[in-house]
Amino acid sequence: MGSFTKIGLLFFSLLIQIHGSDSFHKEANIENRECDLFDGSWVYDDSYPLYEISKCHFLEKQFECLGRPDKNYLKYRWQPHGCNLPRFNGEDFLRRFKGKSLMFVGDSLSLNQWQSLTCMIHSSMPHIMHISHTDKGLSTFTFTGYDVKLILSRNAFLVDIVDEPIGRVLKLDSIEEGKLWKGNDVLIFNSWHWWLHTGRKQPWDFIQVGKHLYKDMDRLVAYNIALKTWAKWVDDNVDSAKTKVFFQGVSPDHANGSKWGAPASTSCVGQKLPISGSKFPGGPLPAELTLEKVTRNMSKPVNLLNITTLSQLRKDGHPSIYTGHGSHFSDCSHWCLPGVPDTWNILLYASLFYN
Ligand SMILES: *[C@@H]1O[C@H](CO)[C@@H](O)[C@H](O)[C@H]1NC(C)=O
Ligand SMILES: *[C@@H]1O[C@H](CO)[C@@H](O)[C@H](O)[C@H]1NC(C)=O
Ligand SMILES: *[C@@H]1O[C@H](CO)[C@@H](O)[C@H](O)[C@H]1NC(C)=O
Repeated sequence: MGSFTKIGLLFFSLLIQIHGSDSFHKEANIENRECDLFDGSWVYDDSYPLYEISKCHFLEKQFECLGRPDKNYLKYRWQPHGCNLPRFNGEDFLRRFKGKSLMFVGDSLSLNQWQSLTCMIHSSMPHIMHISHTDKGLSTFTFTGYDVKLILSRNAFLVDIVDEPIGRVLKLDSIEEGKLWKGNDVLIFNSWHWWLHTGRKQPWDFIQVGKHLYKDMDRLVAYNIALKTWAKWVDDNVDSAKTKVFFQGVSPDHANGSKWGAPASTSCVGQKLPISGSKFPGGPLPAELTLEKVTRNMSKPVNLLNITTLSQLRKDGHPSIYTGHGSHFSDCSHWCLPGVPDTWNILLYASLFYN
């Protein structure tokens, strides 16, 4: 059995006063009550959003959703059923994380979450930041006064893609890039969306497993092999005393309405409301189940940020046609900021500091 740690279990200590029948009072029994932070629903909250995008000039245009006429999507707060989440406080984050570094490793959904986190903090602490980019695909956002680094390492597959004489080879057994990840205090991985790309958006020509080269294979099978390679990398390379490892769960898209009981031709475009309640009609995603299985089987503790279901409920949260590229293009995969990734970061904050 691996030591898979399920985060989202916030433990409450309840001091129970036991009133004995023989007339003396005894204070006893610290009872632990579990609260699953990922089981809940979206509630309208007038105090939202948590920040103004105008304070974060560094945000990508595609996440700003400028020109979007409906504004209700900014107003939803995630409410777990069994407890309340802490309210995000940027200064508190920096104080608790002083001198440390956190790295997101993944695709543009990691970019989405990294931008959300940097803006959540920057908007409350505006004068002390510095952004740098390196040729290794790293972007670093430094809060200088606290020596806190929030780093993004763009990496769509986690395993390597290598240029070879026969073409670009996606190597499911190999993680050379891992040397860039070592030494951080927190690592947050994510990968899925690029596994689905075909045609011109597919950045490899062959898939390699062991000595075998394949022209193509079932993408979920390939993802599973790559995740096991990643899991082995973590088990072999992460010093758990120093580094806390998270996996950002699979971020759902809303390109096909049949998943939530609408016509298949319906997408995220024009969606103004979340799905109410805590169950997504379309059920879990196959990739999510694959990821859960792999993380459960690891020897090092890995925290799964189980954001799939709560994000599935936010069919209203995507840029849709407000990406800055004109209304002929719609994006039902990424998320508007402020928006859903802010909640991912509140859950991260709760898991790091309030667990
Ligand atoms: C993730 O959260 C959903 C919704 O609460 C739940 O159904 C699922 O079992 C959770 N997965 C894990 C691994 O905890
Ligand atoms: C939408 O999903 C349904 C059910 O999974 C599927 O039959 C249909 O082909 C999908 N439509 C599109 C446009 O992807
Ligand atoms: C679990 O881990 C073991 C040892 O690393 C590996 O041999 C096995 O295939 C894994 N099982 C699953 C379901 O991932």
